[in-house]
Amino acid sequence: MTEAVLSIANANLSLDGNAGRVDILHDISLDVMAGETLGLVGPSGSGKSSLLMLMGGLEQATSGQIMALKQDLTAMNEDQLALFRRDNMGVVFQSFHLIPTMTALENVATPLELAGAKDAFARAEAELAAVGLADRINHYPNQMSGGEQQRVALARASAPRPRILLADEPTGNLDETNGQAIIDLLFDLRDRHGATLVMVTHSGELASRCDRVVRLRDGRIDAPVAKAAE
Ligand SMILES: Nc1ncnc2c1ncn2[C@@H]1O[C@H](COP(=O)(O)OP(=O)(O)OP(=O)(O)O)[C@@H](O)[C@H]1O
Ligand SMILES: [Mg+2]
Repeated sequence: MTEAVLSIANANLSLDGNAGRVDILHDISLDVMAGETLGLVGPSGSGKSSLLMLMGGLEQATSGQIMALKQDLTAMNEDQLALFRRDNMGVVFQSFHLIPTMTALENVATPLELAGAKDAFARAEAELAAVGLADRINHYPNQMSGGEQQRVALARASAPRPRILLADEPTGNLDETNGQAIIDLLFDLRDRHGATLVMVTHSGELASRCDRVVRLRDGRIDAPVAKAAE
């Protein structure tokens, strides 16, 4: 019996904006099992990114509980969450969040260095080559296309071989060839390193390769979607 790597129980998320309080996620309960690939789908604004942020402890639930690797993220402070992510999680943000003052190579090498890798730069170079960016390693984010930045973000998140990878539309800015290469790389992370993957996607191709697809609608989990035929 595999165990839940992520376990969300009755989670709600409300955020206070300048236009007042917005209720974003409602009573979300969801388990993601070890080694599972889960696709999150749903219309724009349905709460996919917000749910991913809860799973990564990047947003704190207003109520409910988020467990990751048997640890309670809702009981951790920011420092504990940052350490937990460093040791266990990779996150690919929808808007990449690359560090603008660092080259592609430095962006990927930094988390490896923080994790104590001695060969951080050599490994970072290999990771960038694996996403087709061998000739872009010394470029800064503003010197790269959206799809190139997205691939740097994925290389950065996957380089430390996290047990959990959360990826927000990892193929969203890519053409078919690059998208396919990234999908292969994501599944390689699962196959070779046993990573658990949670991916927000609008891509039918990526969703069809997930073990399970959960659809959100207006901040709630919709009826389960049957896995598409291979
Ligand atoms: N910081 C915030 N303050 C207030 N409302 C927010 C905030 N962040 C997100 N929202 C609202 O929460 C809802 C869900 O947003 P979210 O980004 O999770 O959607 P999404 O499903 O990822 O959409 P998309 O497919 O467009 O990326 C939206 O209605 C959005 O306007
Ligand atoms: Mg989103």
